[in-house]
Amino acid sequence: ALDPRVEEILASLTLEQKIGQLSLRDWGTYETEAAIAAAYVDVKAGRIGGFLNVSFNKLQPNAFSDLQTAAVQESASGIPLLFGQDVIHGYKTIFPIPLGQAASWNPEVVEAGARVAAKEASSAGINWTFAPMIDISRDPRWGRIAETLGEDPHLTSVLGVAMTKGFQTDDPSRPDALAASAKHFAGYGAAEGGRDYNAANIPENLLRDIYLPPFKANVDAGLLTIMSSYNTLNGVPATANQFLLKDILRKEWAFDGFVVSDWNAVLEMIPHGAASDDKHAAQLALDGGVDYEMHTATYQQQLPALVAEGKITEAQIDQAVRHMLKVKLALGLFDNRVAEQKIQPAFLTEEYLDTARAAARESFVLLKNSAATLPLKKQQKIGLVGPLADVPHEQLGTWIYDGDKKDSRSLLPALTEYLGGSENIVFAPTLKNSRDLSSAAFATTLKQIADVDVILYMVGEESILSGEGHSRGDISLPGAQRQLLDALATTGKPIVMVIMAGRPIALEGAENIVDALMMAWHPGTMAGPALVDVLFGDYAPKGRLPLTWPKASGQIPIYYNHLATGRPATDDNYTKIQDIEQGVFQHVPGNSSNLLDYGHLPQFPFGYGLTYGKVNYSDLQISHSQLKRGGNLDISAKVSNAGDYDIEEVVQLYIRDKVATVARPVRELKDFKRVQLAPGESKTVSFSLQASQLAFHNAQMQYLAEPGEFDVWIAPNAEAGLKESFTLTD
Ligand code: IFM
Repeated sequence: ALDPRVEEILASLTLEQKIGQLSLRDWGTYETEAAIAAAYVDVKAGRIGGFLNVSFNKLQPNAFSDLQTAAVQESASGIPLLFGQDVIHGYKTIFPIPLGQAASWNPEVVEAGARVAAKEASSAGINWTFAPMIDISRDPRWGRIAETLGEDPHLTSVLGVAMTKGFQTDDPSRPDALAASAKHFAGYGAAEGGRDYNAANIPENLLRDIYLPPFKANVDAGLLTIMSSYNTLNGVPATANQFLLKDILRKEWAFDGFVVSDWNAVLEMIPHGAASDDKHAAQLALDGGVDYEMHTATYQQQLPALVAEGKITEAQIDQAVRHMLKVKLALGLFDNRVAEQKIQPAFLTEEYLDTARAAARESFVLLKNSAATLPLKKQQKIGLVGPLADVPHEQLGTWIYDGDKKDSRSLLPALTEYLGGSENIVFAPTLKNSRDLSSAAFATTLKQIADVDVILYMVGEESILSGEGHSRGDISLPGAQRQLLDALATTGKPIVMVIMAGRPIALEGAENIVDALMMAWHPGTMAGPALVDVLFGDYAPKGRLPLTWPKASGQIPIYYNHLATGRPATDDNYTKIQDIEQGVFQHVPGNSSNLLDYGHLPQFPFGYGLTYGKVNYSDLQISHSQLKRGGNLDISAKVSNAGDYDIEEVVQLYIRDKVATVARPVRELKDFKRVQLAPGESKTVSFSLQASQLAFHNAQMQYLAEPGEFDVWIAPNAEAGLKESFTLTD
């Protein structure tokens, strides 16, 4: 419900002041004293509704309070400013990249990270963040996959809502809360070919079943703002997309917060070929449903004339201003928040650092561990090799505006501290960075590590290789990292390979060379201590892949919830490239949906992750073989820890709708639970599956579950598990 003060404030504004509320400027672009002085003139005249990137401008150290004072006390409208910032995975205390946080499969971890970020950022004066990023992506070439919460709509919904809750709390008017902005609405993660900003073409049922549910879940959870995306969706720029921003967001979902454009996106409708000029762009965006224009001043410059010409009505502008005022009121900016919110920065406290360390620990995914190579033992001599072995800045990941590498705790010092000195560490990065192609230092490294017991090979990609505008066509290990691995293998010593990267890396056989493999993503400020915690077994690995890990770039897109084909692939029903190379062309009757060179399976499935020891699933029980519409059934399995460590298992519930009017995915994640297990302990894990969870959008875009047979799995990942069946009846 709208605060009654909205209409009162709205009625007091001139047209210019109303349009001013719709204007968001980038403080980072005000680079001279003259530009800053002009900005204050605009603020006092009520021509600006807020700024982003305020902490960036070195010329104005007190910009937050000075600008807010100018807006509240010295402008005619007295409306406070919004200060937005990309607080994506931490402000000063940097948490794992969102994709890493998603690997925790733990909403509490994600909420706690956002809470710390909100406390730090609000203590600096920020009151709005451009997160959570809840774009679904099925393409790890896309650089921004690092910022997503993975490929699955259910997992992204749960974790996205947790992040929003961490930022906003249940009471966004608290001085230490931020308004969240779910982005990018919609389809941005489906950019063609993984090339950023590219067209997204998504059939409506897929849009509604895969890409939109995380946004709907966040709107239902009280999300205050949404950012529209740069891309066209089925040919129409999201920035002017009435179907998305009006029909779905406002009419179907009754969202009453505001929609902000992406940076420069209003004007980018000109190169998109949707708008003929600035004026047309402003008209399309406001008509389309964008309330708040980021960075450019098209609304401010063009809306007065558009109103005068009758092309835009003042009622339309009023509606956009209502959305803006709703958020400013909800944040308490009109009440005592502005006065109470003393700018008293509180960063990097022990509590925040501990929270970040725990989040990093939970994000690590153990992908291989033969002969119990991990955990490492304290008495082992370690060869710490590889370009990512000690890179305080690179472990922070993409979208770090405010994090500082001097606060970043990397592996070498953490290891030295843990081992009580450096005698048992041979530090040999060997390559200058991940892109280094030179093998010149290989021989020296091999000599240096001649007497180590184990090689800890730290590889991957620096932060700069993922993120906005940083997509890759080839997602294998860059530079000579693979060649260095081959060289290390000649020593015959056990190799533990840890990957730090913003995306899965095509391993190209590296998985067969190494003895243990762990994905660490970009873990943030506390990467070093968290890695030591897990590598030495003080904590067993808990993370699970939030996306499917391809064998090669040529397998992309590959995702677990794909449709079946008429010729479903297996390991045997296709001709393999080796057969052809050996001249034994073996015609397999029927063929199948497979690749000659990579087969059909990914390197690792969605949901996959090992721990120390072994976990067994048994005793699947289902309460009914028939499920009625409106009903539910219980399904449970016994999960046992057959190892020697305290572990936490992520137990996953999948279904398959076997026959439907619209083909359904081979599996769909419906629920998951975390269960703690002491060594030797077993627990029964139960799920209640509601008939309503079986619904999907049919060809007429009705959302309903169709009667018929279903499979259901309780599973450790999307390719394994115990299976039962049931029938949905009317
Ligand atoms: O929040 C971001 C968005 O994700 C991409 N373009 C720029 C915005 C503001 O920095």
